[in-house]
Amino acid sequence: MENETIYILAIESSCDDTSAAVLCNKKKLSNVVATQKIHEEYGGVVPELASRAHQQNIVPVVHQALSKANIDKKQLSAIAFTRGPGLMGSLLVGTSFAKSLAMGLNIPLIEVNHMQAHILAHFIEEDGMNAPSFPFLALTISGGHTQIVLVRDYFDMEILGETLDDAVGEAFDKSAKILGLPYPGGPLIDKYAQLGNPKAFSFTRPRVEGLNFSFSGLKTGILYFLQRETKKDAAFIDKNRNDICASIQHTIVEIMIDKLKKAVTQTGVKRVAIGGGVSANSGIRKALEEARESYGWSTHIPKFEYCTDNAAMIGIVGYLKYQEARFTSHEITAMARYVIGA
Ligand code: KG4
Ligand code: ZN
Repeated sequence: MENETIYILAIESSCDDTSAAVLCNKKKLSNVVATQKIHEEYGGVVPELASRAHQQNIVPVVHQALSKANIDKKQLSAIAFTRGPGLMGSLLVGTSFAKSLAMGLNIPLIEVNHMQAHILAHFIEEDGMNAPSFPFLALTISGGHTQIVLVRDYFDMEILGETLDDAVGEAFDKSAKILGLPYPGGPLIDKYAQLGNPKAFSFTRPRVEGLNFSFSGLKTGILYFLQRETKKDAAFIDKNRNDICASIQHTIVEIMIDKLKKAVTQTGVKRVAIGGGVSANSGIRKALEEARESYGWSTHIPKFEYCTDNAAMIGIVGYLKYQEARFTSHEITAMARYVIGA
């Protein structure tokens, strides 16, 4: 099987991006993402609107992925799709589409865990990608998840810690909202942070045992701080935007790096890989670079295209599962809460 040329069509629809990709073995031939702009008006993802947009997007996005890859659907070896975790209505669109297509083409169907895919995205073979060897620690940071995972092998993963409340992306987005920035505010905090002083203001860090995270207290701390300061000076935010953003970003990044340091000490594993939308953040990238130099970690950051939600990461898991003939029955249903290893 190893020498065979495998073509996988992958479908991702867990949140607010409709995506389809075609992989030839470990290489990406196409990776099309339709981002749903509609949610910006509401300051967050509206599940009902997300499902509807997936329904509209899925056929054109799949067509585009096949035509960009220059592949006819009859050449496909299998269909991989995101089974969960995610929004149920969104997942159902991708799941139903993948099942019908696999049945129509009479080829295997492969379910993929979205969080596992964020981690295994590192194994897409392409210039600029630097796959870690096993075992490694993965920090997955997105708008919906924050986890530290010990990865012993492709399908041998153990969650060492996760958030007890908000995800790190939410911490960025909710802080941005308090500052009056539009959704999703994470990238904007990053932009202003690069112009400000990270030590200008200090915020209380959550005290959470072990390798778990908590970000809801930080958000409340930021809110109270800004309420206090704007009472004294209504223009406080406008005058200090860069410093406030830099201080918020510095605090969030330090929380993540502290937990990673703990995980490295606990496991003795010094290879650290990040994934998920927040890996785009310049602060975490810089902090990892420093940790590489100071503590001798090897650090792995995927190309931006494979950090945010995309179907190519579903496709690489599809390929790895295909190698082991880990196929899925057509009776399968989507799973909104789908834990790695379940
Ligand atoms: O992985 P992703 O695209 O979607 C989810 O599965 O959630 O992650 C989106 C999250 C949002 O919260 C967004 O604000 C955050 O990633 N994000 C950032 C940056 N770029 C994206 N947060 C901080 N700094 C950035 N540069
Ligand atoms: Zn994601």
